[in-house]
Amino acid sequence: MKTRLLTTSPKHLRLAADIISAGGLVAFPTETVYGLGGDAMNPSAAALIYEAKGRPSDNPLIVHLADPAEAVHLTEDIPETFARLAERFWPGPLTLVVRKKASVPDATTGGLPTVALRIPDNAVALELIRLARTPVAAPSANLSGHPSPTCWEHVRADLDGRIDAIIKGDPSRVGLESTVLDLTGPAPLILRPGLVTPEEIEAALGQPVTYDPAITEPMDPKSAPRAPGMKYRHYAPRAEMIVFKGDPEVVVRIIEERRLQEKAAGKKVGTLLYGQAEKHLIARDFFSRLRQMDQTGVDLILAAAVSTEDSVGFSIMNRMLKAAGYRIEEV
Ligand code: TXA
Ligand code: MG
Repeated sequence: MKTRLLTTSPKHLRLAADIISAGGLVAFPTETVYGLGGDAMNPSAAALIYEAKGRPSDNPLIVHLADPAEAVHLTEDIPETFARLAERFWPGPLTLVVRKKASVPDATTGGLPTVALRIPDNAVALELIRLARTPVAAPSANLSGHPSPTCWEHVRADLDGRIDAIIKGDPSRVGLESTVLDLTGPAPLILRPGLVTPEEIEAALGQPVTYDPAITEPMDPKSAPRAPGMKYRHYAPRAEMIVFKGDPEVVVRIIEERRLQEKAAGKKVGTLLYGQAEKHLIARDFFSRLRQMDQTGVDLILAAAVSTEDSVGFSIMNRMLKAAGYRIEEV
C-alpha cells in the first residue's frame, strides 16, 4: 500500500476524513502522541488498525470525539463523575472509561463491555473527527511495542506502506499518552498515569482517586492489569536499557563509570540524563530520545531515574521502567 503524506490544509483534511469514513486508516496529530485513526463504529476498520500496528486484538482502542455531547450515543448509564471531568479536562489528555452501548463494536473495545473516550486538544485532530462525522478509534500510531510517536516522521518510520495516510501536523506538545481513568467501578481508578494527575482529578471530583495496583506494583504477578494494554512489553527501544536510581550525584558518577566500561568492551552506549530539567519538557522529549538512540545504533541505554515526588515524574518513570523492561539498579 502506498501511504500518502497529507498536509493540514482544509482540502487534505477533507480527504483524510473521507478515507476514515470509507473504512481506511489515517495517522493524525494529537497533543499527547500521534494517533492511528479509523472509524470506531466500523469493525473492519478496527481490525485493520490491529493489523497495521501488529497489535493483539484484545487490547482495546481509545475512541476520540470532537464534542462531549456525542458520548450519549456510545455509552450506557453515564456516571455523574463523567460530566464533571469532561467539563474540566476536555479537550485534553484524559481518557474516560465508561460502559458501552451495544452499538460500539466489540472489535473496537477488544470485547470489553466498556469503552474509553477522549477529546484531544489539537485543532487538526478535532477538525478531522468533525469532518469524518464518526467517532475515531485511535491507538498510538506506532508499531506495537515501539515507543509512541511524537511527530509524523516517527509514524512514517513505523507505518509507511501499512496505512492509507499520515497527516503532517506539529510535534506533540505533551509527549506521553493520556491518563486513562476507569469510571465503571465503585471509585475512580487510574489505569494509566499521564499528565492529568490524580490530584487534579480529585480536586475536580471532590473524592479520592487511586492508581490501579498494576501501576504501582508492576512486578507483582498478583496485580493483573485492568487496562489490557498495560500487560504487553511497551515503549521498548531496540537497545538494552538500564535505569539507575538513587542520589542524583552518585547516579551521574555511576552512569559515567559504566559508560566508559561498556564502551571499552565495544558497546555503543547512550545516556539519558535529565538533571534538573522541568518535568513537562522531559515528558515531551522522552519517546523521541528513545527513537533517536535506536536510529544512531546504540546498543545500551543508561538512564537516570527522575524523581517521582510529583505525579508528572511518576508518569515518566512508568514509561521509563517499561522501556527498560523493569531493569533497575539502585545505587
Ligand atoms: O494519548 C492517548 O491516549 C493516545 C492518543 C492517540 O489519543 N492514544 C493511546 O492509545 O495511547 P493506545 O491504544 O496506545 O492506548 C490505550 C490504552 C491501552 O492501555 C488500553 O488497554 C487502554 O487504554 N484502554 C482502552 N480502552 C479501554 C477500556 N475499555 N478499558 C480499560 N482500558 C482501556
Ligand atoms: Mg500505545
